[in-house]
Parts: sequence; C-alpha cells; structure tokens
Amino acid sequence: MKRVTVIRGDGIGPEVIASALEAVRAVDADIEIMEAGMGLACFQRTGSYLPQETLDLLEESDAALFGAITSPVAYDPSYRSPLLHLRKAFDLFANIRPVRRWHRTVGLVDLDVVIVRENTEGMYTGVEREVEDGVITERKITRRACRRIVDKGIEICLGEGRRSITCVHKSNVLRRSDGMFREIFRERVAGSGLEAKELLVDAAAAAMVQQPEKLECLITLNLYGDILSDEAAALTGGLGFAPSVNMGDGFALFEPTHGSAPDIAGQDRANPVAAILSAAMMLDYLGMPARAERIERTVTEALEIGVRTFDAGGRMGTKEFTKGFLEVLDTV
Ligand code: NAI
Ligand code: MG
Repeated sequence: MKRVTVIRGDGIGPEVIASALEAVRAVDADIEIMEAGMGLACFQRTGSYLPQETLDLLEESDAALFGAITSPVAYDPSYRSPLLHLRKAFDLFANIRPVRRWHRTVGLVDLDVVIVRENTEGMYTGVEREVEDGVITERKITRRACRRIVDKGIEICLGEGRRSITCVHKSNVLRRSDGMFREIFRERVAGSGLEAKELLVDAAAAAMVQQPEKLECLITLNLYGDILSDEAAALTGGLGFAPSVNMGDGFALFEPTHGSAPDIAGQDRANPVAAILSAAMMLDYLGMPARAERIERTVTEALEIGVRTFDAGGRMGTKEFTKGFLEVLDTV
C-alpha cells in the first residue's frame, strides 16, 4: 500500500485538506495516511516550523499532500521557509502546474497547458550582495538542472498525449544562461517525437491570453515559471482552481498553489477545489488514474450544476460545497 503524509498547515490549509481527504476517501483510494506538522501553528505548538518527526515521516512516504503555511509576519531570525527546506532536502526539482478551465463559466481563456518549472536554482537562490550604488543578484543555471527539467517535461507530455513542448526563455538578453537552457532543450527534445517550440518569456505571457490553443506544455526556469503560472491560474478561474506538485525522483509533494489566505481563514469561505485537484494528481502519481479522473470529472460536473464556492460565483461555504461535491461524485 502507498504511504502518504498529510500536512494540513495553517490558515485555510486544514479547511481545504479536510475536503481533499474526503474526496480521496470517497473514491476508495488504497493509501495509508499519516499526519505531520509544519508551519506556524506547528511552531507555536512544538517550537519548530519543521520538526524532525515530519522529515522522518516524509522520508518513509511515497508522497505528501500539503495545505499551506503562514510565514511569520514579525522578523524571526530562526525562520527558514520549511517549504524551501523540503525542496532542497528531497531534491524536488520540478514544480508542475497543470492549468485548465474546469468549466466554461469559470475563468477567461481556454487554456489547457501544463507548466513545468525548474524549482531549485535561477533567481531563487537568493544570493545578493551590496556593491557601490546598488545590489548584485546572482542567478545560477546549471546544465544538470536544465537537462532534468527538460526530461521531466518530455516525460509529462508523452504520458499525457501532449504533442508539442514550448521552451520559455529570454535568450535574446541572457545569451549565455538562457541560451544554454535553450540549447539543452533542443538537444533533448529532438527525437522524442514531440514538436519543439520556443517563446521569449514576454511573448509567452501574451500568448497565454491571445493564442492559448497553441500552448500545450511550457518548460521554463524558476522566475519565469512563477510569474507565468500565476497568470495562467488567474486566466482559468483563480487560485481556488490551481493544483500543483513539487516533484523529485522518488518523492512528490502535492499542494494547492494558493497560500494560507489569512483574510478568509476560519470563515468557511475557501474553495477546496485546488486541494481536491492536487489530491487527484497525487492519486494519478500513485498509480490510481481512474480514481483521479473521477474526481476531475466531478469538479466539472459540480460547477455545471451550480455547486460552487463564492470565488466561483456561487454561494456555498467550504463545508456545504464539499457535501455537494461528494453527492455529485456518487453520480459520475
Ligand atoms: P494567498 O494565496 O494565501 O491568498 C491570496 C488571495 O487569494 C487572498 O485574497 C485569498 O483570500 C484568496 N484565496 C487564496 N486561496 C483561496 C481559496 N482556496 N479560495 C478562495 N480564495 C482564496 O496568498 P497571500 O495572501 O499572499 O499569502 C498568505 C500567506 O500564505 C502568507 O503567509 C504567505 O507567506 C503564505 N503562502 C504560503 C504558500 C504555501 O504554503 N505554499 C504559498 C503562498 C503564500
Ligand atoms: Mg507564487
């Protein structure tokens, strides 16, 4: 049996994960679930944002399902983002966000794209130093990271029947670093059977709005992927509908793209669909594609009959939505 560690986290994290677990239960997924702590509430309880126990449980798991955590507002010198720590510790090198419109009345654009983003280097190493009259930010791109993110993108496209793959870069300006990424992309996609395309990142931002039908998979570096995936989520219904996974070689952490939303936490207002879809992706990853697909079909069907939270133009709170969702699930 596959083992999954569940980290509910802070804010709306526990609210949306509760719904996601109900969906997982309703499709009779054959998994063993273990609970672990991480984040601000965990720190207040245990004195650690990421206890060793949690790391140990994750080590023994096939996957993790994670809600969201709140960053401490006041400066805490002991604070290191536990999520960044996990990305490093488990070498979760690919951030994968499938983006599509789940119903014609949700979102603005008919985008159906998977964004595959390099997750370990680029602009996010945060190495900066003061120089006279300014700051230098280091941005390191390695061949190894380029190779494995491209290979992951190819694997996803072949697995999902996507025919083209688009490298998103800015090699007209960053000739050496982005130029290297682009070269590696061309070398590795050649012979894969996929059509290799490329776009400059600014053009890609426009293409998502103007020519969404031309995009099937975007493969890109850390910062570009961060920005484009928020744009893509906004175009297709917002954060409440945006699932994701941080994937490594033997382990993957599934999470809704959104944060802990303190502005609506505890008010029964969160849309749990992003968490539910993240759980569906997890079931697919763990070898249960039919169960995943059933959950996905339920999302569209629920929207069709008006089972919707506030952000999707509905009137349902998280709990009422979840109850409605499970009723629809019974019928699909
Ligand atoms: P956020 O994603 O939590 O919220 C942004 C806006 O979207 C808010 O108005 C929120 O109410 C709304 N929203 C988000 N998810 C929603 C949902 N499921 N249903 C309905 N509305 C939803 O981002 P924000 O406000 O910038 O960050 C809040 C906290 O979350 C911060 O402490 C931040 O550090 C943390 N965060 C954590 C992440 C993670 O754990 N992976 C990712 C992003 C932020
Ligand atoms: Mg972001």
